[in-house]
Amino acid sequence: MAAIRDLVDNAKEALSSKSEQQSTPKSQFKSGWQPQVQHQARPGLESDMQEPAQIENVPDFDGEPRLYKGSGKLEGRKAIITGGDSGIGRSTAVLFAIEGADSLIAYLPQEESDAQKTAQLVQKYGRQCHLLPIDIRVQANCQKIVDEAIAKMGAINILFNNAATQLVKETIFDIPDEQWLDTFNTNIHPMFYLSKAALKHMKHGDVIINNASINAYVGRPDLLDYTSTKGAIVAFTRGLSNQFVDKGIRVNAVAPGPVWTPLIPATMSTQAIKEFTAPIGRPGQPSEIATVVVFLASTDSSLLSGQTIHANGGTVVNG
Ligand SMILES: NC(=O)c1ccc[n+]([C@@H]2O[C@H](COP(=O)([O-])OP(=O)(O)OC[C@H]3O[C@@H](n4cnc5c(N)ncnc54)[C@H](O)[C@@H]3O)[C@@H](O)[C@H]2O)c1
Repeated sequence: MAAIRDLVDNAKEALSSKSEQQSTPKSQFKSGWQPQVQHQARPGLESDMQEPAQIENVPDFDGEPRLYKGSGKLEGRKAIITGGDSGIGRSTAVLFAIEGADSLIAYLPQEESDAQKTAQLVQKYGRQCHLLPIDIRVQANCQKIVDEAIAKMGAINILFNNAATQLVKETIFDIPDEQWLDTFNTNIHPMFYLSKAALKHMKHGDVIINNASINAYVGRPDLLDYTSTKGAIVAFTRGLSNQFVDKGIRVNAVAPGPVWTPLIPATMSTQAIKEFTAPIGRPGQPSEIATVVVFLASTDSSLLSGQTIHANGGTVVNG
């Protein structure tokens, strides 16, 4: 009986998502676009996304995708990008390449196929993408990432602390202590170890960019541990900037709102994906965060340090 009920529910869901699909605008950059509900196991793969995210394209004035145009903003720069295999990290590696930078990307070993694809996309623009499958929760691995970057590229001009994880839990009582520790061990502690190791090689003109989240500002209740790490990232960005701004090393953060990446089908419920949107009328695409990271990495943002840019589709927040 239960099996029949499941079949009927699945058929209903398929029909309703089909009709939602038909009424959804085609361009992911147009108001009203909504991703189809889908789920993956953590950490999630870009290659398993039913609707591929926008990596190289940015919206034109009509909301249609157009290839990002570079202008040599990062010519010859060398970058470390954690979580560079997919989503925002992948798009950043590609836009960095279009702007003339090489990257080393760090990611979990089970994401190797996604990382290979990122490397192909970067190489298309004549730049290098060095691959390093490694778990950043292990302190010594953060030093290894920096050592490998220096060995392969000879310099670190940009450190994009981007990797993170999350797991939805309704209340504080549902969060096992192990999850609380794991979220901090993934999202904030490596930021300290990586920055400490990388700064020994960084000089005037170099930058650190940290990926925070809108959730630090709105206090999303069902992501308490994640939200807490993102608040720590904002404070870390401010304090570190105050240490290094007079040495010409700028430290900034980006705080994305909802962005369609593997993190979402890998960690969010059906209901949360159905509600996955922003005041602009749709969720963001990875390329729309990567453009902000390019801005923060380039001299276009020469007067910004210790700041957080709110690329969140129109949610007004303080700070
Ligand atoms: N997608 C969103 O809606 C959204 C919103 C706000 C902030 N962000 C932030 O954007 C950043 C990138 O996430 P994304 O949305 O592009 O998702 P994503 O799943 O594509 O990227 C996250 C990456 O983190 C890396 N990672 C996780 N745990 C790791 C570990 N232990 N060792 C090494 N690497 C590890 C993985 O390589 C993974 O690919 C994260 O900091 C996330 O918090 C995302």
